[in-house]
Amino acid sequence: MKVLVANVSGNMGKTTIVKHLLCPRMQDAKVICLESINSGTDEIPSAIHMNAEDEFRNLVDVLAIEDDLIVDLGSSESKQMIRKLKEYESSIHDFDIIVVPVVPDHKAQEDTVTTILTLNSLGVQREKIFVLFNKIAVHQAGKVSDLFAPMIQSVRDMAIVDTNLSIFQYEIYDALKSEPTTVNDAARDNKDWKAVARNPQLESDERIDALQRNRNQKAAPAALRNLDSVFDLLVSY
Ligand SMILES: Nc1ncnc2c1ncn2[C@@H]1O[C@H](COP(=O)(O)OP(=O)(O)OP(=O)(O)O)[C@@H](O)[C@H]1O
Ligand SMILES: [Mg+2]
Repeated sequence: MKVLVANVSGNMGKTTIVKHLLCPRMQDAKVICLESINSGTDEIPSAIHMNAEDEFRNLVDVLAIEDDLIVDLGSSESKQMIRKLKEYESSIHDFDIIVVPVVPDHKAQEDTVTTILTLNSLGVQREKIFVLFNKIAVHQAGKVSDLFAPMIQSVRDMAIVDTNLSIFQYEIYDALKSEPTTVNDAARDNKDWKAVARNPQLESDERIDALQRNRNQKAAPAALRNLDSVFDLLVSY
């Protein structure tokens, strides 16, 4: 399966989705981050970083060769990417799924409509484009259709819109942002970090780290269940 995660807007959770939702469940996939600034290098250590303007032909090659691929299109690269997708006309069709994350604010919803209109104008079929609702407050889980009503209305003929494709807003994503640890890793971590934190000989920064890891262990199961159900639904279409 070849997956593109894209939105013309930043801060939608594209990299978070690649790291925590896709990479752990597509372990054989090559991961490519398209971005001009080499940010997030520590987050996904296996990722290959490319710049859409000069290295797009390499992406076309990877799309030709690989069976499993995850591409994180950084918002700083989306203009160049769209230009290149027009130059290499059919390359967008090599992706099986295009995930378009969106968060609840107004601007994010407008930019998501723009993103989906662009994909539609590139000829991508509705069946391949999935809106992924991200940063949904748990108490608003039942209100996703209301929160995104105008956007849903505008894109439903061009993309799959299923409000069960919702990732909750959880602190663990920010807590793990600067390290390669995924929610899956944190859920598997059996070390007794409470005991570590209680060791009186510990330096204060080590205690802060142990307490953070204890919090990650506590937060991981709920986030993991959410990610598992979103991934299962995504691949069931
Ligand atoms: N479900 C979530 N709950 C809480 N925080 C989240 C969630 N998803 C993403 N975040 C946080 O939101 C911020 C932006 O996420 P991320 O870096 O993945 O966005 P992006 O779309 O890749 O942005 P850019 O286009 O600039 O690369 C990060 O700090 C991330 O930890
Ligand atoms: Mg990113």
